[in-house]
Amino acid sequence: MGQTLTEKILDDHLVEGELTPGEEIGIEIDQVLTQDTTGTLVWLQFEALGLEEVQTELAAQYCDHQTYQFDFKNTDDHRFLRSAAGTFGAHFSRPGNGICHNVHKENFAAPGKTMLGSDSHTPTPGGLGELAIGSGGLDVAVAMGGGAYYIDMPEVVNVRLEGELPEWATAKDVILELLRRLSVKGGVGKVLEYTGPGVESLTVPERTTITNMGTELGATTSIFPTDENTEDYLSRLGRDEEYVELQPDDDAEYADEIVVDLSDLEPLIAQPSMPDNVVPVEEVEGVDVEQVMIGSCTNGAYEDILPSAKMLEGRNVDKKTEMIVAPGSKQASEMLAREGWTAEMMAAGVNFSEATCGACIGIGHVPASDSVSLRTFNRNFEGRSGIEDDSVYLCSPEVATAAALKGEIVDPRNLADELGDLDAPGIELPDEYIGNSESDLIAPDEAVDDELIKGPNIGDVPLKDPLGPDIEGEALLKMEDNITTDHIIPATADILKFRSNIDKLSDFTLSRVDDTFAQRAKDNDGGVLVAGENYGQGSSREHAALCPMYLGIDAVLAQSFARIHKANLFNFGIVPLEIDADTYEQIEQGDDIEIVTDVADAIQSGETEFTIRVNDDWEASATLDASDRERRFLASGGKLTHTKQQYEDD
Ligand code: F3S
Repeated sequence: MGQTLTEKILDDHLVEGELTPGEEIGIEIDQVLTQDTTGTLVWLQFEALGLEEVQTELAAQYCDHQTYQFDFKNTDDHRFLRSAAGTFGAHFSRPGNGICHNVHKENFAAPGKTMLGSDSHTPTPGGLGELAIGSGGLDVAVAMGGGAYYIDMPEVVNVRLEGELPEWATAKDVILELLRRLSVKGGVGKVLEYTGPGVESLTVPERTTITNMGTELGATTSIFPTDENTEDYLSRLGRDEEYVELQPDDDAEYADEIVVDLSDLEPLIAQPSMPDNVVPVEEVEGVDVEQVMIGSCTNGAYEDILPSAKMLEGRNVDKKTEMIVAPGSKQASEMLAREGWTAEMMAAGVNFSEATCGACIGIGHVPASDSVSLRTFNRNFEGRSGIEDDSVYLCSPEVATAAALKGEIVDPRNLADELGDLDAPGIELPDEYIGNSESDLIAPDEAVDDELIKGPNIGDVPLKDPLGPDIEGEALLKMEDNITTDHIIPATADILKFRSNIDKLSDFTLSRVDDTFAQRAKDNDGGVLVAGENYGQGSSREHAALCPMYLGIDAVLAQSFARIHKANLFNFGIVPLEIDADTYEQIEQGDDIEIVTDVADAIQSGETEFTIRVNDDWEASATLDASDRERRFLASGGKLTHTKQQYEDD
C-alpha cells in the first residue's frame, strides 16, 4: 500500500513506534521554533535539564508576541532570550522583525523537514511541505536537546481541492469553509493533507494561510505537497536549492476525504466569538464597523497586504472606521515601503504598526467597548482582543478592506458593483523578496552574548512532587465547553509581563472565568478542575498547565481535551481524566472529589478506568487516555522532573 505525504515524512524521521493511527510514535525533529511568550520557559527548562547546546539542525528564537516595552520586564525577557539563543546556539530574531511563522517561512521553512514549535500556529510552513507541529515548550526544549518528540500517530485526512477560486474568494475563505463544515473540533487527532487539481492554482502564501488556520480546526498539522509553485516561491526567496519534490503515492490510503470545490467558494466571515461561526459575508452586510485590522500570522504577509493596498489606491477609509495594518514581518513592511504602497495606504487613512502579534492577543489596538472590529487574524475568542465585550469578525484582507472603505460589513463583490471601478486585486508575488534579515536575524555564529542574562523578573521553573497515592480536593471551578488557554492564562500585556515569574503569574489563573479562583486554590491548598468539551483549546501556552500546577491542581475532569493542552497537563504532572456528559452535569462546583484508590499505582500499572467519589455520596467513572511515557511523567510529577532525573541517571 502506498503512503500519504505525511507518512513519508514521518517514516523518514521515525525513531520509535509504527505509523498506526492512535499508537504513540517518536520522531526526530529537524527544526525548532519558539517565541517570546513561551520562549523564556523553554530556555529556563533547557537550562534546568542541564543541556548545553542545541542539537537540532536549526533552532530559532523569535520576539513577536509582546514587542512593546512598557517597562523593564519585557525588555529583560527579550535580553534573556537573546542571551539564551547566543549561549545555546539558536538564531535570534529581534523584537519588531516580525511574527515567528512569517519570518520562519521567509528564512528557514523547507520541504520534507520536521519542525516542532512552542506556538500553536507552528503548522504554517505545511504550505511548503514542512511537517510542523505545535507543542508545549518543554517538548521543544527536549527536542532541542536532541530528544525525540512523542505523539499519538494522527489519522491522515485527504482534503481534496478541485476547481479554482473565483474573483474575490481567497485562501482565507477555503479555511473558513472548512471551519464552517467541520467546527473547531473537526481536525482533532488528524493531519489534514491537501491534494487534488485545485492545489496547483494556489501560491505558497495562499497555502500557508490555509495551513496556519488548520490549527483552528484542532488539527495536529496540515500539509501541502510540493510542486512548481513551491519551487518558484523558494527561488523568489533566493532559497531554490532547498526545494524537494514531495507527493503522496498514487495509491495512498486516507482515513477520510473531504472535497472542496474552490470554484464554489464566496467571501466568508467568522462572526463573534468563535472561528467556526462562519457565514457568507452577504448575510451580515450593513453592520457598522469601527475598526479594521490587517495582519497576524494568517494574513499579514506582503501578499496579503498588497491586495488591500490596491483596493485603497486613490480611495479613502470611511471616516467612522479606523484601519490599522500590522505587517507579519519587517521584510513585508520594507518591501511595501520601497514599492510606495505604504505611502499609498497612509494617504488613504491607514495607520501602520510595527511587525508584531500585538493586537492578536489584546496588546495594543484594543477595540472600543461594544464595537465591531473586522480582523484578518485567526482567532476571535471572546475577550482576546483585550476587552471582554468585544465583537470581532475574522475575514480575508479583501473583505476587511471593503468594510474599511464602506464603514460597514459589505461583500466586496457588491461594493465593486456599487463603485463601478473596484477590481478584484487577486494575488501577486514579488519578483524577488528583499529584506533586512541580515541585521534583524542574528545567526548563532554572530551571537552577541555567551552567557544567560536574567533580570529580577525572571525566576526558576517550579517542580512538582511525585504523585501521591490519593487525589482528593474540592471541585474549585466548574467550566463550560471550549475553555481556551486565553481563559486559563490571558495573554494581555499586564499579565504577560509576568511570564517568567510563575509565582506572580499564577495569581491570574482562570481570572477571566472566576477572579477568586487563584486565591481559593491557595486557601484550599489546591483541588480539582471540572470542564466540558475541548478543554484547553487555543494556544500552546504551557503556562496554562504550569500555573494551575503551581496552585496545587492535581487533576482536571473534562468531557474532552484539546491536544496540546492535554500534553502540557501530562508535562506538568496534572492528571487529565475524561468524564461523560451525565457525570459532568451532576458535579457541582464546591463538591468534594476523591479519585480512588492508590492513583499513582493505578496510573503506572496502565489502568484506564478510575472511580471518582463525589461528596462521599455517589460514584462515577473517569477515563485516563495516556501512553506509558505519559504515565511515567504523571507519576514523577511531570516531564521536567522525569527527564531531569533520567539525564542525571545517565
Ligand atoms: Fe501571533 Fe496571533 Fe499568530 S499571537 S503567532 S499572530 S495567532
